[in-house]
Amino acid sequence: MSQDSRKVSPAVYGKVSSSVVEKGKVTYCTDLEKSVIQSNFARRGWSQVGTEDEWNFYWSFTQSCRNIFSMENGYRMTDNQMINHFPNHYELSRKDLLVKNIKRYRKDLEREGNPLAEKVEVTLPNGQVINRYVHLDFIPVTYVLPADYNMFVEEYRKSPQSTWIMKPCGKSQGAGIFLINRLSKLKKWSREAKAQIQPQLTSKECYVISRYIDNPLLIGGKKFDLRLYVLVTSFRPLKAYLFQHGFCRFCTVKYDTSVTELDNMYVHLTNVSVQKHGGDYNSLHGGKMSTQNFRLYLEGTRGRKVTDRLFAEMQWLIVHSLKAVASVMANDRHSFECYGYDIIVDNTLKPWLVEVNASPSLQSTTHNDRILKFKLIDNIVSVVVPPDGIPDARWNKIPSADALGDFELLIDEELIEKEDANSRYNKYHRVRI
Ligand SMILES: Nc1ncnc2c1ncn2[C@@H]1O[C@H](COP(=O)(O)OP(=O)(O)O)[C@@H](O)[C@H]1O
Ligand SMILES: [Mg+2]
Repeated sequence: MSQDSRKVSPAVYGKVSSSVVEKGKVTYCTDLEKSVIQSNFARRGWSQVGTEDEWNFYWSFTQSCRNIFSMENGYRMTDNQMINHFPNHYELSRKDLLVKNIKRYRKDLEREGNPLAEKVEVTLPNGQVINRYVHLDFIPVTYVLPADYNMFVEEYRKSPQSTWIMKPCGKSQGAGIFLINRLSKLKKWSREAKAQIQPQLTSKECYVISRYIDNPLLIGGKKFDLRLYVLVTSFRPLKAYLFQHGFCRFCTVKYDTSVTELDNMYVHLTNVSVQKHGGDYNSLHGGKMSTQNFRLYLEGTRGRKVTDRLFAEMQWLIVHSLKAVASVMANDRHSFECYGYDIIVDNTLKPWLVEVNASPSLQSTTHNDRILKFKLIDNIVSVVVPPDGIPDARWNKIPSADALGDFELLIDEELIEKEDANSRYNKYHRVRI
């Protein structure tokens, strides 16, 4: 066998030879040697095997999943195999592609005259007049650099006193992020980047530059964002579920918009991976507050009505971000994916989508975290695996109410189809009243 043919051999990942898998004989493999995965699957009586053995369920890294689905590999999954990613999840999880897809989605709706794409004229505090989407204005204004540099400069000049945040497309956990409030800083960065990255930036090396949400809702004077978990079992028809136990992630240092604090990431970035290195990090609560407690806090301080509205708006933005990528996702029937949504709430209680992670951290920093993540994995498996407990890509993916556990149904387009036009499942197709 030549080197090349060995490289394309499908035998790297083990298939399931028999089409009949007995209960109690379900096998899984994982790239993530974490107890939250192993203990969950062991409790179901599943046995762990290697990636090259016969597996039914693979909890993989995104890279291994892409390898499995790559054409060169020639690997074909059988009916009794499932994997925890969609082949091109990056359409949603890469910062530049997410923005591109949402912009395209809004334009398409606009072109077809859909009322969802309605716009209104708004005058900003600085006197600038802009056209804003009424229902689909949920991502901060964003450009991809270097490609959209000129467009960015044009936008920047309209309100030169505002702050922007630069984020590398191919990184996570707050790495490589910085804030800018002067064009000269961007120019300096651009010169240095050009010197380093030659000759051409690959798409992974590009940056997004987004309007910095400088009026975040603060609790105890500190900035936070929300981490919500969204399970998608199909993109066409769209089937998505929201886990009821998300959490807020707090900065350790009080929020401060002064220029001297612009480079202080403990003030501006809510990532646990950043904050845990801060001197004021509290390892008991890990800078986290459950969404339930957040909800209670808001009901107490702002009232029930606006709180309900905020949570409804978060569901709305999740569903529309998924619809924005539904047409470009490879909707492989063996795939499901649990996304970590990062959402910032501003002080007018408007939620903003910051990014979507295809591999949200399963690391537990606190006792509550451990409980939450164990339950998350347990509930994911019961939603994606048919009632007989055997992974099966042919299943219609309509779980029973019991199987949902602490997931709630966000949208199931198949159920909407089945019911009449006034279906209780239909709320995301209409404009909100
Ligand atoms: N437009 C923005 N306005 C204000 N804060 C932001 C904005 N974008 C990101 N952040 C902050 O930076 C953090 C990291 O950004 P994110 O896009 O989630 O990148 P990463 O992949 O590094 O986590 C967010 O959790 C949030 O606290
Ligand atoms: Mg993030």
